[in-house]
Amino acid sequence: MLDQLTTLEHAALEEMTCVTTSEALTAWQGRYFGTKRSKGKLDEAMSALGKMTAEERPAFGKRANEVKQALLAAAQSTETAVKTAELNASLQAGKLDVTLPGTPIKRGRLHPSTVTLRRMYAIFAKMGFEVYRSPDVETDELNFELLNMPPDHPARDMWDTFHTSQPGVVLRTHTSPGQIRSMRELGTGGTKPIRVILPGMVYRYEQVTARSEMQFNQLEGIVIGKNITMADLKGVFTEFSRHFFGKEGRIRFRGSYFPFTEPSVEIDVYYGLESERDRMLTKGTGWLEISGAGMVHPTVLRNGGYDPDEWSGFAFGMGVERPAMRLYGINDIRYFWQNDLRFLEQF
Ligand code: FA5
Repeated sequence: MLDQLTTLEHAALEEMTCVTTSEALTAWQGRYFGTKRSKGKLDEAMSALGKMTAEERPAFGKRANEVKQALLAAAQSTETAVKTAELNASLQAGKLDVTLPGTPIKRGRLHPSTVTLRRMYAIFAKMGFEVYRSPDVETDELNFELLNMPPDHPARDMWDTFHTSQPGVVLRTHTSPGQIRSMRELGTGGTKPIRVILPGMVYRYEQVTARSEMQFNQLEGIVIGKNITMADLKGVFTEFSRHFFGKEGRIRFRGSYFPFTEPSVEIDVYYGLESERDRMLTKGTGWLEISGAGMVHPTVLRNGGYDPDEWSGFAFGMGVERPAMRLYGINDIRYFWQNDLRFLEQF
């Protein structure tokens, strides 16, 4: 009987040499010490105790206890070794290299129109202009009538208008209604000179092309004072252009017509004529129109509260995206609002 215990001990310790995982150890423990459902080999061997004589029992019991202690000690040391090995393996597998670069956080960016507007503000600020804001939703009166375009005036057709459901209320077709608002508010009854720029979105029910959008930004400028002349307009715009486009930028003034300025001009920047796209964008001339401008019409001065015999002024209404197209070499205005990150991320 004692030999059986020794054989069991040897077999168990022999098997233990092959145990290298927690699962294998649990299985070994189940085999020798039993599980909830089955008896272990050691318990089976111990059951022989009941059939022994009183003389045999002490030696068998003592030996069985030695075997049990030997197996428990083996299980204990294997468990420590296995756990250590498994921990090392898992640390190795999930090893973190703290020197690797992290995942960058995607940063928001300013829209190219905003970047351009801020560049424009900075230049005009140096020339003493303040920013004045006026609303996107305007009355017909401010958008047209007070700018010398009574109802049925043919010049209204220059701007294809978005009307609202409220009669007499439109989405502004240009930033020029701000001329009246700023003159009335800042000119305090036609007694003070003003020098402001008015930025903002304007809306036109227009055919969308590489050079024209339905919704785009303008930057209006208006200067009212004594003895303001066309030379001031040319000087201010040329100075702006030199700073905005750099020395390479060439602009030209062309005679034009606007009901609210007299005389009126349009200002073009030289875009280039190297490709078919340049040709389309500039209507075959190489020049891209960027602004309307002129001397504020006496009727408009009066509507703003000024006496045209005493006061004069100039105004301009410049696109924002078109100058940006020249500055950054963008050949299609539609990129601005397509929300394509490949485009937007370049600014
Ligand atoms: C006007 O809007 C006048 N209010 C400008 C003005 C102001 C004249 C003050 C005199 C005194 P115009 O429609 O030409 O004018 O537009 C002015 C500028 O806005 C253009 O030169 C161009 O740069 C830009 N622009 C006009 N239409 C579009 C369009 N559909 N898409 C993008 N930019 C445009």
